[in-house]
Amino acid sequence: MKTSHLRAAQSVPSTQPVGPVAAEAADLLRQLVAEGHLSAEAAEQRTREIAAELAATGGYRQSDQELLQGARIAWRNNPQCIGKFYWKGLEVWDCREVGVGGCDESGLFEVLVEHLRLAWNGGKVRLLLTVFTPTEPGMPGGPRVWNGQLIRYAGYRQHDGSVVGDPGTVELTEAVQRMGWRGQGTEYDVLPLVVQWPGGEPRWFELPSDAVPEVRISHPEYPWFEALGLRWHAFPTISDQVLELGGLRYTLAPFSAWYTCAEIGARNLSDTNRYDKLPAVARGMGLDTTRDRTLWRDRALLELTAAVLHSYDQAGVSIIDHHFATKQFVRHEEREHKHGRGCPADWSAIVPATSGSTTPVWQRRYEPTRVHPNFAPQPTLWPSGTDG
Ligand code: ARG
Repeated sequence: MKTSHLRAAQSVPSTQPVGPVAAEAADLLRQLVAEGHLSAEAAEQRTREIAAELAATGGYRQSDQELLQGARIAWRNNPQCIGKFYWKGLEVWDCREVGVGGCDESGLFEVLVEHLRLAWNGGKVRLLLTVFTPTEPGMPGGPRVWNGQLIRYAGYRQHDGSVVGDPGTVELTEAVQRMGWRGQGTEYDVLPLVVQWPGGEPRWFELPSDAVPEVRISHPEYPWFEALGLRWHAFPTISDQVLELGGLRYTLAPFSAWYTCAEIGARNLSDTNRYDKLPAVARGMGLDTTRDRTLWRDRALLELTAAVLHSYDQAGVSIIDHHFATKQFVRHEEREHKHGRGCPADWSAIVPATSGSTTPVWQRRYEPTRVHPNFAPQPTLWPSGTDG
């Protein structure tokens, strides 16, 4: 059902209008020239080559260099990311051939598991992007993973409307349950991965536990903290964004990096529509939670974030604090300006979720300009349930 990635050579029609893909490809090549990865002559020749391949097959295959350097620029262009200082350190694992032809879901799944192991790297988390086959000409899309991240916890909606686990994944959890998956029902059940080829049936796979490193959260000064039973997965791996590169759409391109402590302490475990743990932390601290004016939320948020940082450090897992991250971001910005480039950024995504005004990004202004190449969100694939 899937067209082969290797296309037969055909004669090239002499007059082809320059389509949007060719224009995007030429634009990427111009950027590679501007950044010193390609000579102008090589780019010109490559532009002609791509035009011919497009005319013959409707698609084209990017060179390793176009893929690697292009993916790095896509990261650099993304307005949501505070960690772009490290954009040149992104590694790309080329898995464009995997599963192609047979629409093999398990082939994709095996690579995704291997991606997690490689990115984990014994705790020294790697900046790793794995790229699968892009959307083929004439196909409705490329392969997809339903999950927003490769490792995420299930959220079980209870009869009284409360949620056990991560309220952020309730819809996905219900979708995989309708497909026959049964979790343990704990607060931290790792969701299975749902893998789907365009036009094919989705299949779910349980992740092996050795591919799911986690960190239990304890506090450097409060011995009671550990008994709260909080934990989080060691690093994030965004798996639902499309890499838009040189006119091609890589619909499955999971991206791993290390965490900033505020993402876990000041969002995932504390947002009222996520794990909502501040009341429990505040009770442990003996704070008066009956009045906002005691600032119990602020104090609990700070200690929870400190506990996250401490626990990841103790476990030997890469993590950075928001002060260091924002300083690096400003250095990145200055470096970009020196190279005559802007720094597209969304202020609300760059300012950390806690202590924003104490970081250097607070005083600055950013434009969330969208330029290509880039990463972009994609629509979710699961059908909505009938239970509302
Ligand atoms: N905020 C998301 C989470 O808490 C992860 C987003 C990417 N973050 C990163 N440090 N690369 O899981």
